[in-house]
Amino acid sequence: MRALVCRAWGPIDDLRVEEVAPPAPGPGQVLIDVRATGVNYADALMVAGQYQTKPAFPFSPGLETAGVVARCGEGVARYAPGDRVMALLAHGGFAEQAVAEAREAFAIPARMPFDEAGAFPVAYISSHVALRWQGRLEAGETLLVLGAAGGVGLTAVEIGKAMGARVIAAASTAEKLAVAGERGADALVDYASENLTDRVMALTGGKGADVCLDPVGGDLFDAALSSLGWGGRILLIGFVGGVPKIPANRLLVKHRAALGSSLRYFRWHAPDKLRRSVEELIDWYEAGRLRPYVTHRLPLARAVEAIRLLTDRRAHGKIVVVPDPAGG
Ligand SMILES: NC(=O)c1ccc[n+]([C@@H]2O[C@H](COP(=O)([O-])OP(=O)(O)OC[C@H]3O[C@@H](n4cnc5c(N)ncnc54)[C@H](OP(=O)(O)O)[C@@H]3O)[C@@H](O)[C@H]2O)c1
Repeated sequence: MRALVCRAWGPIDDLRVEEVAPPAPGPGQVLIDVRATGVNYADALMVAGQYQTKPAFPFSPGLETAGVVARCGEGVARYAPGDRVMALLAHGGFAEQAVAEAREAFAIPARMPFDEAGAFPVAYISSHVALRWQGRLEAGETLLVLGAAGGVGLTAVEIGKAMGARVIAAASTAEKLAVAGERGADALVDYASENLTDRVMALTGGKGADVCLDPVGGDLFDAALSSLGWGGRILLIGFVGGVPKIPANRLLVKHRAALGSSLRYFRWHAPDKLRRSVEELIDWYEAGRLRPYVTHRLPLARAVEAIRLLTDRRAHGKIVVVPDPAGG
């Protein structure tokens, strides 16, 4: 099969599409004929050796996928060859076939196309887990989302609305804010040209936000922390802008909390809650309350270009990579 291969830590430009042996499903695993694989910022971190886990070389990046079950490993009863599934992956999605743990594969709703399914698991489940189980977002609360047109940010906007919150979307361009507005955000803040804290305070009548979902970190973290009201919770999701230092004194006085949330570890520690998150997301999708936003569909041969759209800060919503046309 053809796959995007990483042979040493480095920039994404070093990745090459190669002919490799197809993977075999072990016990409890399924082999998937890939139809679409969502691109994540973490793909670039993983090939640079900056991700939490470092696979042995050679490996293919790709943290999620959607396709058709080709074969089941020993002990897998819930799926059979021919089933349409989407899955979280340890890695390996940028390939014609990928192996997933059966417990981390989910049936694709009948009306969901493969492109949407390939872009669904990481962003939606990460945002849901963070908002539901860590942030404990409640209906009527105000949710501030940073990077609100990005993969994880845009799903947080939709999920916040589905949970009954008022959502303030914050991003760096008017175009990105328009995307967040179209997905239901109640108010928009351009943090490239406006003071984030001042705007959130003005939008909340001086009260501040209850929950902030932050996939950016860096310099923006401080302004986001100041935007929280009494009892506010800031959810640490990612650090594309750098890892911030947390001033503990600013948590104490306002009863604020800074909470980490990592889907990678959550799914191993709390599989039952993970399952409940996926069930709620699928219910919302079936009810038309979630509309996955896939802007680009690029062939495997252009996978590096697809990842670069994220690292260059040009992506909106999600991008998927699909196996090359026959013969590639
Ligand atoms: N903890 C978890 O469970 C979890 C799950 C998924 C992803 N993540 C992490 O969350 C982060 C975002 O991932 P993603 O896949 O959603 O990425 P993405 O689609 O590229 O979105 C990231 C957003 O961050 C903003 N940003 C600010 N500074 C940036 C920079 N220097 N380069 C690129 N973007 C920048 C951009 O919005 P503006 O231009 O509007 O600022 C962009 O839309 C990554 O660190 C990823 O590892 C964590």
